[in-house]
Amino acid sequence: MHREWTIPVGDGLREMAMKTEEEEILAGLMAAKKHLPSKFFYDETGSKLFEQITRLEEYYPTRTDKSILEQNAGELMQGIEGASLVELGSGDCSKISILLQALPRETLKTLTYVPVDVSMSAMEESRCNLQERFGAIQVSGIVTDFMQQIHPVSQYENRVFCFFGSTIGNLERRDAVRFVGKLGHLMETGERLLLGLDMVKDKAVLEKAYNDEKDVTARFNKNILSVANKIIGTDFEPDYFRHHAFFDEEQQRIEMHLVATRDMTVRSPLFEGNLEIRKGETIHTENSHKFTSDHIGKFASFSGLSVRAAYTDSNRWFTLVDYIK
Ligand code: SAH
Ligand code: AVI
Repeated sequence: MHREWTIPVGDGLREMAMKTEEEEILAGLMAAKKHLPSKFFYDETGSKLFEQITRLEEYYPTRTDKSILEQNAGELMQGIEGASLVELGSGDCSKISILLQALPRETLKTLTYVPVDVSMSAMEESRCNLQERFGAIQVSGIVTDFMQQIHPVSQYENRVFCFFGSTIGNLERRDAVRFVGKLGHLMETGERLLLGLDMVKDKAVLEKAYNDEKDVTARFNKNILSVANKIIGTDFEPDYFRHHAFFDEEQQRIEMHLVATRDMTVRSPLFEGNLEIRKGETIHTENSHKFTSDHIGKFASFSGLSVRAAYTDSNRWFTLVDYIK
């Protein structure tokens, strides 16, 4: 069963067949260890909650990534004339704005910006309409799951892929290497990939970032159940779950789970019977892998890309790697 997605590309509309969201959610809920793909956090509410997370004192990744971009924008944007900036998981497009701000109007006129995001609302409501802000730049958004469908980007030339915020850490380790390998394969000589990586650090700092005092991350986590309710018609009560996030030292990742606080029966027109969830049972909603310098080299060797430069902050908490083919 396939559903048609409408993918706005520039002014026109294109339709692409994709694996259904229903199938992905059902597979996760029927698994022996229940899980949901983290891309389902990002409906309108989830995208807004994520933006709130980025402003939290505890959540250091966004401000650190942004400070690296601010400090190195000149060098990163050298020779950028005529490029297509393809941003994967563009969200509110605030990071690309930092780079564009460093450019004169004559250079902006030569650029195309291609935000790629699964969230239609993030694309529509965010600051992705950079045409308004920066006048000259041409913007062509693509709403798609970049894991399932990357080929719409092949129509652009002279590309600089941007994958900020350590969103790559939300993929399984093996999938992350494969994904960068896929990018490396489709890239032409001289094209670049700017990859933001959240580095392994003190466990207390990491765990605080995913357990904020205002419970914004808890609301973000629980919202995934409201998204499931909308997509497959379940009757999950998000408040029957507790947010649980911890750092797994062996796998070097934050895991986010929803823990059932009571026994419950969940129904959906798409289930044959009911889904029984026992008190204490968890739904695994996200992994956020953290990285070391070894990973930077591993991405290069599995993708045929070379490290042109790597930028970090004074704490070495975050790294922005500039790869080139
Ligand atoms: N790059 C921004 C936003 C990060 S939040 C930043 O660094 O702050 C992650 C973004 O990636 C969200 O906007 C989400 O909708 C998008 N996203 C997550 N998984 C995706 C997928 N599989 N395909 C396309 N977009 C995805
Ligand atoms: C988008 N991604 C890199 C965020 C992260 O830190 O893994 C999502 C997030 N989850 C909880 N807080 C933020």
